[in-house]
Amino acid sequence: MSIMPGIPPEAPLQGSGIALAAWDNAFLPALLPLFRDEPSLRLYQPSAYAVLDLEGLGRLLSDWNDGDRHVVLAILEGTTLAGLVNVDDLDPEARSAEVGLALLPGPFRGRGIGRKAMECLLDYLFGDVGLHRLQARIHEENKPSLRLFDGLGFRREGVLREAALRDGVHRDLVLMSLLGREWRSARNSAAPGTGNRP
Ligand SMILES: CC(C)(COP(=O)(O)OP(=O)(O)OC[C@H]1O[C@@H](n2cnc3c(N)ncnc32)[C@H](O)[C@@H]1OP(=O)(O)O)[C@@H](O)C(=O)NCCC(=O)NCCS
Repeated sequence: MSIMPGIPPEAPLQGSGIALAAWDNAFLPALLPLFRDEPSLRLYQPSAYAVLDLEGLGRLLSDWNDGDRHVVLAILEGTTLAGLVNVDDLDPEARSAEVGLALLPGPFRGRGIGRKAMECLLDYLFGDVGLHRLQARIHEENKPSLRLFDGLGFRREGVLREAALRDGVHRDLVLMSLLGREWRSARNSAAPGTGNRP
């Protein structure tokens, strides 16, 4: 249990062609290729990154999925691990948190899985859990991610100047946010079955 009731979900969250399930260490071997893919890690992690072995990855996931303010959910396509979503810095008073995601390198990318996983996560966090605000910090050069969060209705609040460190060089992060009422309003105005977004 985290400090927020409803997190993690008791049963997998069903999205469109994907599900989000409470993290299970049985997924670790399938996750390892992501953490051995340096280009992915450079975009996924805001600062230091490391290419890990299975033991190191287990320690990292326990740290990220601390059962309190930080939660990781597995993205499943059928029964296959496609990636993960992370919810960080849960604040039960302000009802806010930060979100992120990463898909395994290769065939899971570029098919809309990232968008579907985030839609499912936003429905859950703004709906079932009742959060008020979500934010994301995205590397300025991460075009797929910026496009994904733009498409979900996140607004660009500004730039965290030189907040990330890569190869000894400080780089900018884009700060984006979405409020619960904005998500509900966008969801309600999307005509069902037309594919209109979000
Ligand atoms: C970012 C990431 C999660 C996107 O997931 P995905 O399933 O591949 O993305 P989707 O297929 O849902 O596409 C999302 C949008 O990005 C666009 N996109 C996808 N790949 C792209 C690319 N290589 N260049 C530019 N745009 C791209 C899509 O066209 C889509 O935009 P649209 O809906 O306006 O057409 C995935 O690429 C990833 O895991 N990257 C590595 C880790 C990472 O960067 N995480 C984000 C940290 S915040």
